[in-house]
Amino acid sequence: MKRQFLDLGRQPIANGFLKDKDFDGEFFFDLKVQFDDETCLVSLSEFVPPEKMFNDDYVYHSSMSITMREHFEDAARTFINEYEPSKVMEIGSNDGVFVRHFPEDTTIAVEPCGNFAAMTNEQGYQTYAEFWNVDLARKILEDHGKQELIFSANCMCHIQDIDNAFEAIGNLLTQEGVFIFEDPSLLKMIERNSYDQIYDEHAHIFSVVALNNLLHKHNLQIFKVENLDVHGGSNRIFVKRVDNTVIGMDNSVWRNIEMERNAGLHKYNTYVDFAKKVEKSKTKLVETLRGYKSQGKKVVSYGATSKSTTVFNYCGIGPDLIDYIVDTTKDKQGKYSPGTRIPVISPESGFDNTVDVAFLGAWNFKKEILNKESGFLERGGKFVTHVPHVRVLGV
Ligand code: TMP
Repeated sequence: MKRQFLDLGRQPIANGFLKDKDFDGEFFFDLKVQFDDETCLVSLSEFVPPEKMFNDDYVYHSSMSITMREHFEDAARTFINEYEPSKVMEIGSNDGVFVRHFPEDTTIAVEPCGNFAAMTNEQGYQTYAEFWNVDLARKILEDHGKQELIFSANCMCHIQDIDNAFEAIGNLLTQEGVFIFEDPSLLKMIERNSYDQIYDEHAHIFSVVALNNLLHKHNLQIFKVENLDVHGGSNRIFVKRVDNTVIGMDNSVWRNIEMERNAGLHKYNTYVDFAKKVEKSKTKLVETLRGYKSQGKKVVSYGATSKSTTVFNYCGIGPDLIDYIVDTTKDKQGKYSPGTRIPVISPESGFDNTVDVAFLGAWNFKKEILNKESGFLERGGKFVTHVPHVRVLGV
């Protein structure tokens, strides 16, 4: 049985930054979250049609932060050393931040956003500009045969029919091949009260417990789990075929399952408690920002993230509380935040001496941002974050 536990209200497309001419007719949906007693999978109750989110206007560039560039370079190097794959495929290759570390002639990419698919095609990687599913796997099997390493980062959790996606993996993986994927961790989301991991693109927030159940249906098995810091806490899941006896099981699988069970991720009541904390976080955040505003402070937001779309729309935070958002992404600058319509400008033009307080929309890059903006803190500037609870960061 699927049971709903959280209602984050009417929400727009999280990455759908708007030009003012697009204000009329903006798409909204009900952002509600449910728990499946049978598989322990946490998913959105209502999915948004994928074409509305992943299209030629998609603005999220994986390469835009040093953290992510280094992360994927490191991942590629480790996989090459460990598995020496001669045929590699990435699902959700974005701007090529991962595939660029592999040879063009033995590496293929899958990327439904046409703007990004064109980039990796130009770099010499054959890129299928399509959604990942059983039909595409069949086509790739005919064109290129089975794959030894299939990688996917922050993409599997976007796929609404996850059973179909895992079946497609099973059909394309060689007998001794490995499938490695990483996505935000449900355990970290619950621990950090980071409810803004929930938005249209994240059809599911995975636990190891749920993935274990889902993958087994397709004769696939998790043999290792790595806990990562990126994207606010993610898991890298290593998968093999059940009948692959060459690769052994790593203790990290049992360790992660135990941690998750201790945190109650297999029980509905855990999510009901989480929902109560989310509501408290909203009240405190709005109070904090209103407090600064009533003192005449200039408040902005740092990072026009998909996560902050959830926060702003759920908490009712608009241009009355946040003057503007600064973001380094050129494609977002000159636009407005989805739903709440707060202007987005470049840090060069907006993050100046007039700013008193900055809401940390990109809290997952806190270390990188605090390093970069030490001058802001030294002159008395304050960052406000809501993770793991609403608090002010300053010197
Ligand atoms: P994400 O949280 O969805 O990964 O998006 C991060 C956003 O934050 C992205 O639009 C770029 C922006 N950003 C900055 O503007 N300045 C920074 O220093 C960093 C690290 C990110």
